[in-house]
Amino acid sequence: MDSNQIPPESGAFNPQSSETLQLLRSRRSVVAKSLGAPGPSEPELKEILSIGARVPDHGKLAPWRFVIFDGDARRTFGKKLAAVFAEDEPAADAERVAYEANRFMRAPIVVAVVSSPKTDCPIPVWEQHLSAAAVCQNMLIAATAMGYGAQWLTEWYAYHSKVTEHMGLSGNERIAGFVYIGTTQAPLKERVRPELDRLVTRWIKNAD
Ligand SMILES: Cc1cc2nc3c(=O)[nH]c(=O)nc-3n(C[C@H](O)[C@H](O)[C@H](O)COP(=O)(O)O)c2cc1C
Repeated sequence: MDSNQIPPESGAFNPQSSETLQLLRSRRSVVAKSLGAPGPSEPELKEILSIGARVPDHGKLAPWRFVIFDGDARRTFGKKLAAVFAEDEPAADAERVAYEANRFMRAPIVVAVVSSPKTDCPIPVWEQHLSAAAVCQNMLIAATAMGYGAQWLTEWYAYHSKVTEHMGLSGNERIAGFVYIGTTQAPLKERVRPELDRLVTRWIKNAD
């Protein structure tokens, strides 16, 4: 099949959807500590990742990849986080270190979206990182549409070289986000949103 063709399973799907607009209008992140079990099943997770990977991508480079943390792997990884944290903060008390060890236990599934820009091509690296950000956002939307809650976090460990090295990131790879996914445990409240009028200008070409 020509890669530009709409896949056959799309059938007569009509993209015009007031429900999609309503979701986008009202979607909220759910703080990681309010994300309980169950998390998405394997097929649901695969769907979330597939939708995540279906983003604008200049040059069709797929300049991102996913690392899934679930089950015991979350605890094992937490031990590493706690060790790195304790090394940097030797004065931290046991409770604080335990908090770090439990970070990934806040949700049943955590997916690291790794921005993995290709440097042997003319597409600017910045654009490749932007595409990775779009992956994270698509995942939030997909998880929300499936009835789950999700939060996009970086926190300190996304930027700590000992953590990213432990995860196997190469020199030019960066964490776009850790997407925490689970079942929402607490009611959601709206947060303050920016006033659109303060953000929008209209270009007046001949104003000089
Ligand atoms: C790249 C990125 C990194 C983020 N990292 C954090 C973080 O480390 N800690 C945090 O509290 N919120 C972080 N956030 C914010 C939350 O994901 C989210 O925007 C916030 O909870 C409100 O979300 P909502 O407007 O989707 O409801 C980050 C957002 C982005 C886009």
